[in-house]
Amino acid sequence: MKVPNHIAIILDGNGRWAKAKGMPRSYGHVKGCSNLETICDDMKEMGVKYLTVYAFSTENWKRSREEVEGLMKLFRNYLKKCIKIAERNKMRVKVIGDITAFDQDIQKKIAQLEEFSKDYDELHFQIALNYGSRDEIVRGVRRLAADVLEGKLEKEKITEAVVESYLDTAGIPDPDLMIRTSGELRLSNFLLWQLAYTEFYFTDVPWPDFNKKELIRAIEKYNERDRRYGGVKEE
Ligand code: FPP
Repeated sequence: MKVPNHIAIILDGNGRWAKAKGMPRSYGHVKGCSNLETICDDMKEMGVKYLTVYAFSTENWKRSREEVEGLMKLFRNYLKKCIKIAERNKMRVKVIGDITAFDQDIQKKIAQLEEFSKDYDELHFQIALNYGSRDEIVRGVRRLAADVLEGKLEKEKITEAVVESYLDTAGIPDPDLMIRTSGELRLSNFLLWQLAYTEFYFTDVPWPDFNKKELIRAIEKYNERDRRYGGVKEE
């Protein structure tokens, strides 16, 4: 079985999972968070080199104040705990998205975690927080336009690789497999540029129940696909 180099996951279904158990949504997020820890260990063990997860979108601020506050508390705890997970898995952690919207202490924890893990390279773990792909592209285009105006970049020299270098994911290879849990069949503004050639796998399993067995099932399906990139299939 060929293991994808880069797997991206839309973590969905924490709320419905909790509701089905007669529990508050926050319980689903707590379980979703501990599942993320387990999946990181599984990915490392299976030899996946890049993992990117969609944990909080630019739209998620619209949820109830109670839920957003609960998620912030969870992020605070997780970012602290993630230092140990990074050490254990020799994992480099990077947060993508516009983190300036978070409280100062969260921004500081992100900076500490990124700095602590910057020399690890066995697993590259990207967490999308306050992330939206269109917002990422707009932020990147603004920086690119500023560089053109300042004469640092010539208009004619703008290529796909140059545009890529202005995205939050600069230097990270595109995902080979994108998994969305819990039944929705949408991208929800996740990695629109980066997923151009990626294989998609959708499952009804909610994120808190997505375990190693489900991960292997997704990778098996990925292995059954023809990956042609618009070219001729290799025999
Ligand atoms: C989707 O479930 C999940 C979220 C919006 C939050 C994701 C957060 C975690 C998995 C917690 C841990 C993450 C980190 C990085 C600490 P949903 O609430 O949209 O579920 P629903 O669609 O059933 O309502």
